[in-house]
Amino acid sequence: MGFLEIKDLHVSVAGKEIIKGIDLTLERGKTAVIFGPNGSGKSTLLGTIAGLPGYEITQGTILFKGQDLGTLSIDEISRLGIGISYQYPPAIKGVKLQTLLQNINNNPEGIASWSKALNLTDFLQRDINVGFSGGERKRSEILQLLLQNPDLMLFDEPESGVDIENISVIANVVKTMLEKEKPISQRTRSSIIITHTGFILDYVKADIAYVIMDGHVRGCGSPGEIFEEIKLHGYEKCASCFAEQFQGIKTGDER
Ligand SMILES: Nc1ncnc2c1ncn2[C@@H]1O[C@H](COP(=O)(O)OP(=O)(O)OP(=O)(O)O)[C@@H](O)[C@H]1O
Ligand SMILES: [Mg+2]
Repeated sequence: MGFLEIKDLHVSVAGKEIIKGIDLTLERGKTAVIFGPNGSGKSTLLGTIAGLPGYEITQGTILFKGQDLGTLSIDEISRLGIGISYQYPPAIKGVKLQTLLQNINNNPEGIASWSKALNLTDFLQRDINVGFSGGERKRSEILQLLLQNPDLMLFDEPESGVDIENISVIANVVKTMLEKEKPISQRTRSSIIITHTGFILDYVKADIAYVIMDGHVRGCGSPGEIFEEIKLHGYEKCASCFAEQFQGIKTGDER
């Protein structure tokens, strides 16, 4: 049984097709990175996997640990072991960050140590993300995800707007959570990371990269090679360079 298997996924938002037939698989212990231009459907894909409202699966399936996520509610998906850190984390007035964390996982030691690791100890008594700077919101998101401790962690641009020192703070915490020091076969968690800058990949090694353009996976291959191609030649050329490898993966051919 596969860990995450997405087959021919089509997703509509407000009646408009955004994801137009995506295939993507991820094994336990592995990290996939997603690249792609603005508006190509990256956040839509992660939101659909997490079961967020507003994303309608019109065709295809997402299987996670053998279960069809299209038939489950957002809380069932969450309990099954999927967590997301948002690209744009919302603020919630009237609820303290600490209260939310205690409800996610009532583990005082865990809350104290992860908050310290993310330089957020002083924020626990503040309302969730209210008045937080962009980088503070991102760290607060990561803290919530760590306490949830899901098997599949979805990171939507975790380093966007974060200063250079705090990128290393976030990335090192993520690396620890993903048990990157262990061989893949012994790791229990997997992740999908969306990044434009690639900064996080300097710390958290990804196993495979997907390039998404206009709702399709247009290429797939080694994260380092693909990112270099994008920087040198742009998305379009990069996608055509790696399209052949992607066809191989889709049809199950040896690479
Ligand atoms: N409620 C909506 N109504 C209409 N279009 C929508 C809605 N939500 C999303 N879209 C469109 O879906 C497309 C994909 O959005 P998505 O947020 O998935 O892009 P993205 O690849 O994450 O981009 P970015 O790199 O800018 O974060 C965009 O063109 C967006 O405007
Ligand atoms: Mg996005």
